[in-house]
Amino acid sequence: MEKQTLFHIENLSRYYKTNRGNLRAVDNVSFDIYEGETLGLVGESGCGKTTCGRTLIGLYTQTYGTVYYRGKNVHTLKGNEKKSFNKDIQMVFQDAYSSLDPRMTVGDIIAEGIEIHHLAGSKKERDEQVCHYLELVGLGAEHRSRYAHEFSGGQRQRIGIARALAVQPSFILLDEPISALDVSIQAQIVNLLMELQKKLGLTYMFVAHDLSMVRIVSDRVAVMYLGNLVELASSDEIYYNPLHPYTKALYSSVPIPDPELESQRLSEKIVLPDLIDSGPRTEEGCKFANRCGYCTKKCTESSPALRDDGSGHFAACHNPLSNEGVSVRDRQIVF
Ligand SMILES: Nc1ncnc2c1ncn2[C@@H]1O[C@H](COP(=O)(O)OP(=O)(O)OP(=O)(O)O)[C@@H](O)[C@H]1O
Ligand SMILES: [Mg+2]
Repeated sequence: MEKQTLFHIENLSRYYKTNRGNLRAVDNVSFDIYEGETLGLVGESGCGKTTCGRTLIGLYTQTYGTVYYRGKNVHTLKGNEKKSFNKDIQMVFQDAYSSLDPRMTVGDIIAEGIEIHHLAGSKKERDEQVCHYLELVGLGAEHRSRYAHEFSGGQRQRIGIARALAVQPSFILLDEPISALDVSIQAQIVNLLMELQKKLGLTYMFVAHDLSMVRIVSDRVAVMYLGNLVELASSDEIYYNPLHPYTKALYSSVPIPDPELESQRLSEKIVLPDLIDSGPRTEEGCKFANRCGYCTKKCTESSPALRDDGSGHFAACHNPLSNEGVSVRDRQIVF
């Protein structure tokens, strides 16, 4: 089936003004998000993941570039189109506690969006919807008159998800939705999100640090480095066959639960220097050049464009890694 494009992002940049000049938090990124997929977004802390996500959903203004949602420019929407976009696009935050108003009952938190977007014809219908969404996320309807602080972290995240779902969105930006949770709870929330996606036909952008989780959750994964998109491909391609040295280094630091495989892979690990700016970085060249073991003169002179290798595997590198030499054993690594 032909993939439908939900978001089309063209040369998007978002700068922050600082007293040392402009900080290019997102720097000229272009990619698409397809309907029904989960696009994982990974990269080190501060590389621009949150800024990218929030700019593409119109929460932050862009400095340059354009974001199209179902063919319409997100940053110039007005009137009913803007309202409908605001309903269609929801967000689930990392910190469920601070994103839930402590003075409101859980029922009122979930009902808020239903009321704003006039999704219920009567109070009774609204209450029915609140109960429905609470049950959908695995919380009993009886919880609706309680307050957020009375719940555990995992339950609060379920409330945040119910609030997002209550306005019947198409797309949810999940910004580190499980990072603040206990490991034992993380899998439950991830399973819930995946189940809901199937049931409701949702599209997700999943921002995360935990690469092994991203691999399980995502259809495709985008890798950011200092504001640039350096690689974008299917989860398996990104993991087994990275073309960008940064992606390979990032993934080589993911531990494998099998000690024998882990020790074999440790010997192949690329060690990233501790500091991002460990050497001079030219304005023109690749931002990763000063940390890259494959750097050539060209890399310090011109910034590589994100190119498709012909199979939908995009990488921005003058000297992409080759697929050859990946052992069968490497390919059998399972998380
Ligand atoms: N409001 C702001 N004003 C100035 N600089 C900002 C602001 N928000 C973010 N930044 C800077 O922009 C860069 C990208 O930040 P961003 O929060 O998007 O990164 P991130 O990849 O989401 O990081 P993390 O993984 O820690 O959440 C960082 O250098 C950050 O310090
Ligand atoms: Mg972030």
